[in-house]
Amino acid sequence: MAHQSDLIETDILKYLKTQEEKDLLRFITCGSVDDGKSTLIGRLLYDSKLIFEDQLEAITADSKKVGTQGDDIDLALLVDGLQAEREQGITIDVAYRFFSTEKRKFIVADTPGHEQYTRNMATGASTAEVAVILIDARRGILTQTRRHSFIVSLLGIKHVILAVNKMDLVDFDQATFEQIEQDYRAFAAELGLNDIQAIPLSALTGDNVFSRTDAADWYSGPSLLEILETIDVTTDLASAPFRMPVQWVNRPNLDFRGFSGTIASGTIKPGDNVMVSPSEKASSIKTISTFDGDLGVAVAGQSVTLVLNDEIDISRGDLMGDIENSPQQTDQFAAHILWMHEEELLPERQYLMKIGPKTVVAVVTELKHEINVNSLEHTAAKTVKLNEVAYVNFSLDHAIAYDPYKENRETGAFILIDRFSNATVGCGMIDFGLRRATNLGWHEMDVGKASRAKQKNQKACTLWFTGLSGSGKSTVANAIEKKLQAMGRHTYLLDGDNVRHGLNRDLGFTDADRVENVRRVAEVSALFVDAGMIVLSSFISPFRDERRMAREMLEDGEFFEVFVDTPLEVCEQRDPKGLYVKARAGEIKNFTGIDSDYEPPINAEIVLKSAEYGVEELADQVLASLKERGYI
Ligand code: ADX
Repeated sequence: MAHQSDLIETDILKYLKTQEEKDLLRFITCGSVDDGKSTLIGRLLYDSKLIFEDQLEAITADSKKVGTQGDDIDLALLVDGLQAEREQGITIDVAYRFFSTEKRKFIVADTPGHEQYTRNMATGASTAEVAVILIDARRGILTQTRRHSFIVSLLGIKHVILAVNKMDLVDFDQATFEQIEQDYRAFAAELGLNDIQAIPLSALTGDNVFSRTDAADWYSGPSLLEILETIDVTTDLASAPFRMPVQWVNRPNLDFRGFSGTIASGTIKPGDNVMVSPSEKASSIKTISTFDGDLGVAVAGQSVTLVLNDEIDISRGDLMGDIENSPQQTDQFAAHILWMHEEELLPERQYLMKIGPKTVVAVVTELKHEINVNSLEHTAAKTVKLNEVAYVNFSLDHAIAYDPYKENRETGAFILIDRFSNATVGCGMIDFGLRRATNLGWHEMDVGKASRAKQKNQKACTLWFTGLSGSGKSTVANAIEKKLQAMGRHTYLLDGDNVRHGLNRDLGFTDADRVENVRRVAEVSALFVDAGMIVLSSFISPFRDERRMAREMLEDGEFFEVFVDTPLEVCEQRDPKGLYVKARAGEIKNFTGIDSDYEPPINAEIVLKSAEYGVEELADQVLASLKERGYI
């Protein structure tokens, strides 16, 4: 490898040591290939001589063949070659490139600039401290400049370098540069981006990239690299209040109990008072242990094991914080989210939310608005699709300790995970906790579910019928209810068509509406079970996620999923309400089985083959199963 340092040959250990001690800057480049982004990164890698000899030979040869720069090396090929490789069928991918100079080490996150890659850009931006926003001097601020800047501000990057590129093509004209800078500052201020350094450069010729150029004698500022080498970002995290999510409780023997993790923010030393969330127990730091021995002081980014002066209960996932300035706690908050999956976000659907080492179940209770990433306009929306940004309220099954993202990027960010596929589907930034969460408690009642059920001489439960329209859910449920009544049981039947005339009158048949439909009836079913009843709920309930939610609202063993397994052809043939005919004719949209999904249960307690048995027989099968389980 060609490198600027002679130390590699003379004293490799010393070289490695100096590399290790140099501080590291993470930055992201935003712009499209047209703006010269690839050329710029190529230029930085080339000028810092961090290109392998064989790579250099390859691009020198390629430049002559396919390059756009005559006999000169086309630096864009260095980056684009890797880019083409990684764009083959890969969905989320950010190329992180490493280079270093005498003063600093750098990791540059290089992400494609188009709108369909917004999620990639967000991934790259999430760890970056500085954003280099490229602008083509001939074209000025474009829609994509706005989009990139918005994501940069959303992800909390505070320092922006406005790289006005291709200045050679406008003869390094001062007025052109100043106009772009002025326009950009005005726009960026609206986004809360205030630390902006603008620089006229040419990635192609190298002017003002590595070193200053004479071509723009009116510009007296530093080169791009000089800015990158000197920009001060270290204070940001180290001066924030202390936070450390506990990754691991380290207890090798009875005499030692330490809490290990990476300091997310702040600075600590032995003697400092700390508080642990959610228990809010306080103690102080006895020692800060690391692999290399105990420390007198530790800062953000370091991995440490803390030993406290008091025996307090702390588990994995807890958050340690400064006692004077402790994290907040809530189970409801407002947040920005960016959706990263083909399958859209549906309000009221349960997702896993991972915040630091902690995982909770979360639902969007209100989709306040979507934000158009190009125009920054707020629009109403029912769902959030791939690469879209929205502002929402969340409700969680457990309270979490957090800081608003604006105050702390480490403890205010989360990712969302699909409960079935385990795929990461989105990421988000907490804005503020909703007070209401902490104002509401549970009122303890003297009469409970057990006594209500006992009075009725039964065990309460829900029989949840799921299946296609026309599969026979309601018919079988009706027959079962009659039999249970005759046996003296107290029952209630909730039926899709009926509930949609009242409680759910406002809902249609989009995926989002079905999620809300099922959520409401699951809540109602749970209330009836709490009242001691045997509930029969008959809904298509096409999605596994929501059926699982209905199940989890009850206690173990109280929920019987009854899959009325009737082939689509049979349902369509029966077509009791004439709806399939209309759906096939395109008169009804989003019809289950035709142009809307049905996800069959995987582990239903009871499966009914309605094409093979009569209604009475099917009802008896269900009753037999209830008897077997001790419910009747
Ligand atoms: S669910 O999908 O949200 O669970 P639900 O069981 O409440 O549906 O309602 C289904 C009933 O609504 C069907 O039995 C049918 O009579 C009627 N219906 C009207 N339009 C549709 C549609 N597009 N898809 C499914 N059912 C529909």
